[in-house]
Amino acid sequence: MAEKFIPVADHRVLHPVPVVPARLEAPAGLLADALARPLHDLRISVTDRCNFRCVYCMPKEVFDKDHAFLPQSSLLTFEEVTRVARLFIAHGVHKIRLTGGEPLLRRHLDKLIAMLAALRTPSGDPLDLTLTTNASLLARQAQALKDAGLKRVTVSLDALEERTFRRMNDVDFPVADVLRGIDAAHRVGLGPIKINMVVKRGMNDHQILPMARHFKGSPFILRFIEYMDVGASNGWKLDEVVPSSEVVRMISEEMPLLPVDSNYSGETAARWRYADGGGEIGVISSVTRAFCSDCTRIRLSTEGKLYTCLFATAGHDLRTLMRQGRNDEEISTVIAHLWRARADRYSEIRSLATEALALRGPKVEMSYIGG
Ligand code: GTP
Ligand code: 5AD
Ligand code: SF4
Ligand code: SF4
Repeated sequence: MAEKFIPVADHRVLHPVPVVPARLEAPAGLLADALARPLHDLRISVTDRCNFRCVYCMPKEVFDKDHAFLPQSSLLTFEEVTRVARLFIAHGVHKIRLTGGEPLLRRHLDKLIAMLAALRTPSGDPLDLTLTTNASLLARQAQALKDAGLKRVTVSLDALEERTFRRMNDVDFPVADVLRGIDAAHRVGLGPIKINMVVKRGMNDHQILPMARHFKGSPFILRFIEYMDVGASNGWKLDEVVPSSEVVRMISEEMPLLPVDSNYSGETAARWRYADGGGEIGVISSVTRAFCSDCTRIRLSTEGKLYTCLFATAGHDLRTLMRQGRNDEEISTVIAHLWRARADRYSEIRSLATEALALRGPKVEMSYIGG
């Protein structure tokens, strides 16, 4: 049988060490990029490993036993992560999301959370500190995460039907354990908990209604995510995307929905509430209605590369700057320059000119820089 071959981008080669500008500057708490977008959210990947092999993220045929994950020495230490976070907060970041891979696989994660939870914004407020997890290890860690200062969690769950869930995670992981993790997080107060379901046509779209019915009237906010063309390895095809408009129509026919204003500018999800008071859902339309014009997010990879867009081809190597002994002012100035130069709007451009993508270099994997 012919071996299925999917090329993987070796994104680790593409990481320029930023040049430190001659004129150093103090952070002013406000930065705008080339498209006038402020910097508000830092998403930190704490491991590139995951115990799941979701078909849309880490397909087994690419992330197999021969896949070279990062060695321990490449990872930013907790002190380095906290230092970068502190510098970003001085530039206006007030929300930090820990991602992976699966973040709960990083050893002693609660220690990092405690270090980040101690940080304050320039006006003295604590951060919105959250984490995205597949919940496989959540039941046993929830209390420690809460005690360390984590505010809330978002859980990925793509189906309730056992067979479909196991096919999506591709490691035979049972759905009951994820539901137990969600309940444990709820019990210790890690809410409001959001449940993210990536919808892939032909795989789990028949789970849209069962998921909506299950979470309607619960304390959990279910969000449906359009399957995206992240990374180079998931073999994305446009006809596998279920547009959010279709999801909303399908649910509304059985359980009428009304639109709700967004919570904040730049929110990824469009919100809808059940007309009968059964709570709300969200739809994340990265493909059919790109939200780049409000994108306030920057990403730090496990090994300290900074990505100004989820679809960026190259990361900026902050780890080398730190390990060269650069001081806070120098690194802070580098960050300011990188954000001011930022003009990324990949999802918008993809919808405008799909054919131009053929000219781009390989994209970074989502499991490497985090969702
Ligand atoms: P809240 O703070 O709870 O509003 O979280 P969030 O929606 O900002 O973050 P979350 O990680 O839950 O994002 C949900 C999904 O939206 C991700 O898994 C991605 O599929 C998608 N997403 C998040 N950020 C971006 C982004 O910057 N660009 C694109 N194209 N998609 C994104
Ligand atoms: N499309 C959309 N979302 C994705 N995620 C990972 N890969 C994709 C993709 N191809 C997001 C999902 C998942 C989180 C860990 O990353 O929301 O729940
Ligand atoms: Fe792991 Fe999340 Fe990617 Fe699934 S989507 S493989 S749980 S990082
Ligand atoms: Fe932001 Fe890039 Fe996503 Fe657009 S594609 S929303 S610019 S991360």
